[in-house]
Amino acid sequence: MSSEPIVLQMKNLIQSISKHNHAYYVMDDPLITDAEYDQIFFRLKQLEELHPEFAQKDSPTRKVGGEPLKKFQSIKHTVPMLSLGNVFHFDELKSFDQRITERLPNQKIQYDVELKLDGLAISLWYEHGVLVRGVTRGDGENGEDITQNVKTIRNLPIDLNIYADNVPDLLEVRGEVLMPKAGFEMINRRSIELGEKTFANPRNAAAGSLRQLDPKIASSRPLAFYAYGIAQCNPAHGLDSMSESLYWLRQFGFEIAERQWLVNSIQEVEECYQYIMSIRPDLLVEIDGMVIKVDSLEQQKTLGFLSREPRWATAYKFPAQAALTTVENIEWQVGRTGTITPVARLKPVSVGGVTVSNVTLHNIGEIHRLDVRIQDTVSVFRAGEVIPKIEKVWHEYRPEITQMVQLPTHCPECESPVVMPEGEALARCTGGLYCSAQRIEAIRHFVSRKAIDIDGLGDRWAESLLKLNLLDNVSDIYHLHEHQDKLLTIDKMGEKSVQNLLAAIEASKQTQLHRFIYALGIRGVGETTAKMLSNQFLSLEALMSANLEELKKTPDVGDITAEWIYDFFRASHNLEIIARLIASGIVWEAPQASSNLPLNGESWVVTGTLSTMSRDEATQQLQSLGARVSGSVSAKTKCVVAGEKAGSKLDKAQQLNIPVLNEDQFIQLMNSYRN
Ligand code: IVH
Repeated sequence: MSSEPIVLQMKNLIQSISKHNHAYYVMDDPLITDAEYDQIFFRLKQLEELHPEFAQKDSPTRKVGGEPLKKFQSIKHTVPMLSLGNVFHFDELKSFDQRITERLPNQKIQYDVELKLDGLAISLWYEHGVLVRGVTRGDGENGEDITQNVKTIRNLPIDLNIYADNVPDLLEVRGEVLMPKAGFEMINRRSIELGEKTFANPRNAAAGSLRQLDPKIASSRPLAFYAYGIAQCNPAHGLDSMSESLYWLRQFGFEIAERQWLVNSIQEVEECYQYIMSIRPDLLVEIDGMVIKVDSLEQQKTLGFLSREPRWATAYKFPAQAALTTVENIEWQVGRTGTITPVARLKPVSVGGVTVSNVTLHNIGEIHRLDVRIQDTVSVFRAGEVIPKIEKVWHEYRPEITQMVQLPTHCPECESPVVMPEGEALARCTGGLYCSAQRIEAIRHFVSRKAIDIDGLGDRWAESLLKLNLLDNVSDIYHLHEHQDKLLTIDKMGEKSVQNLLAAIEASKQTQLHRFIYALGIRGVGETTAKMLSNQFLSLEALMSANLEELKKTPDVGDITAEWIYDFFRASHNLEIIARLIASGIVWEAPQASSNLPLNGESWVVTGTLSTMSRDEATQQLQSLGARVSGSVSAKTKCVVAGEKAGSKLDKAQQLNIPVLNEDQFIQLMNSYRN
């Protein structure tokens, strides 16, 4: 037992948890293992149980967010949240400096230079050190009460008394909420894996997260708060300068931006600007410029405000990462699953140092929304590392004769009819495996590890084989042995490679029904659904002849996927390819009827790193017992298997009170089914 007073032990543990939360959730860079973290957390919980009288109000053991709101309350700011003037060039900056020196003759002026954080301004209201309200900027006069959401921000202090003793009775802190780059990339990566929508940039991600009525959503997002000002403090803090006040805030647990500077002249401000531009890519957060503030609070008071902006501060923005150019053409591209996406071919233009000549228009709806036509002038912008986007179409510059872009009725690659099902944004080619654009991707998918698994074909040889016209569709794979002479003409393909490739192809004929179903690349049928279909129908014939109602009885298969599967097996070219594949000798053992499997119908999630097996292996074991293994935790999840460094999925499971097994417990359970 530590001899430190209990309260101090608790405060230390809370501080440590808050530091590790920040490293884990915000920076995506944990400093300790999950097990070590759990120990700290457990120790705090234990202390709180033993000494509830000392339990701290802002303990992370309570930090899960409340119930969803119906709507946000409007709150009037006691001190309005003003905006800043903007400058873009050194000349304008010099004028800003001149205006100041004229009003403060013969005074030494120092400037506090800060990063202009690209997020959302909020105000935090603390009474006796305890956070009582978090409010958005809104229109500057009235904002929205987002207290529940801000309380879930991991690096935001909820009780300042934990960090210092001299807490003011009233403190209103202003600052920016944003999603650091690492967290932004992490959640976008996750969304891509789950097939969900991604955020265009960190600012949108932060705004979208804070505007959620359900605080559990905000709590699952890696948001961070950086303080940059004090709106009110009672009793007065007695500080003299802006730069001091930032450091003063730190003692109460606030984080401030990673860099700031105190400089003596406007020339030095300009040097800072050039320097910040050069380090911008290395910063942890997205910025859109810098903010220059007269450092002395006394001088700030003398300068005062001009309408809605302070005279003592301005934003020095980076050149807009946007440029004007013209649309030379709009073409339609066909993806693996047949999606037809419009792409604008642009007159090449440099945007923030990168040449942009193509930009996706996403879908025909976006073309209508923008009303973009060939020969239009458009502004293209890039936010940070994010892909370029058409920001605006300058209709005023439109030439007299332009043509509206129409969705093609037939696929530009294979001439098959294009369909756009009702309620969907994307048009599709109905050509399936027959479409040449879909073919190479279809082949790569067919031979991939979790499908038919032909080592080397997808990444090494597919393109050359296609060029030699040896692979018109996937069924040709099993006829490659008839063309050994042609195979030998492929660059780097010697006798040995040919034999290896043909052997791998031969070996792949012995497969499993679910692999075969998955390999066909039916829209909406991933690995898990393929297994479900295999369990449900037990034979390819039964699956192929199933009607919609029968298909929908399969777990995981909803109305839409059922239609996709149904249509796939009604398209004659798909049937021909399947027949040819079977004729070439592909076989599988009939799957076992699974209705009596122990985990039948249960939804499981595997997360984190397991030490004795891969996540894939754990997934396979669960599936062999009839469980469905899903990528995300929801109320329907039966159980979560959590390895090392399990992250938000584990949190979510705990929030939803879903049972969690560690690796040992999981292995034990699996063994118990084997005996
Ligand atoms: S100070 C009186 N400092 O910029 C104005 N603002 O255009 C006080 N911002 O709404 C604002 N980083 O969201 C200040 N270091 C910083 C900032 C910053 C970003 C944003 C803030 C504000 C906007 C003003």
